[in-house]
Amino acid sequence: MNTSTPSLQNDCAYTLVSEQEIASICDRLAAEITETYKDSNRRLVMVVILKGSMPFAAELMKRLSLPLELEFMKVSSYGAGTKSLGEIKVHVDLKRDDLMDLDLLVVEDIIDSGRTLFRLTELLKNRNAHSVRTCTLLDKPSRREVDFVPDFCGRVIPDEFVVGFGLDYNEMYRNLPFVGVLKREVYEK
Ligand code: PRP
Repeated sequence: MNTSTPSLQNDCAYTLVSEQEIASICDRLAAEITETYKDSNRRLVMVVILKGSMPFAAELMKRLSLPLELEFMKVSSYGAGTKSLGEIKVHVDLKRDDLMDLDLLVVEDIIDSGRTLFRLTELLKNRNAHSVRTCTLLDKPSRREVDFVPDFCGRVIPDEFVVGFGLDYNEMYRNLPFVGVLKREVYEK
């Protein structure tokens, strides 16, 4: 039986990050993260940002042999100023108020303007987390509008419309097992 998803795959012009490359990126990131936290005696909490980061976080966490806890947040950022903090709306919040003594590792699928992680990391630091680090599968630095550099980065990509492995267009394509570049005709029709 053919278990592929041909119509979704056909909407991609080409594969940008293959399943195999995603696996090797996750191997490398897991090693970097382990090295960073291995001597910490604080509680490590992986904060997965819904929805797009889910597949990446799942691949990453199974490669981490560190003791860690799992939390989810869903946020969206507002405001166009390049200097001000702007606003962040929290749709799904952490299930705890006191972040003291916690090492937070925020996991994202992609950084574009940088606004979401810029504001979210400020928010979490203001809640007294001991440390806040960020890990992204993909980074589009050419789109940056605020000064933000992730602590752990899977791969820098060009400014293309990417879908798959959590990334969506109109909520579709998240279940593709690779990251592909969407055909222009799909989003311009
Ligand atoms: C995406 C991504 C980041 C944000 C990055 O989320 O997961 O959270 O956009 O963009 P920025 O760097 O310009 O702030 P999205 O709002 O598409 O939500 P989703 O993960 O639920 O699809």
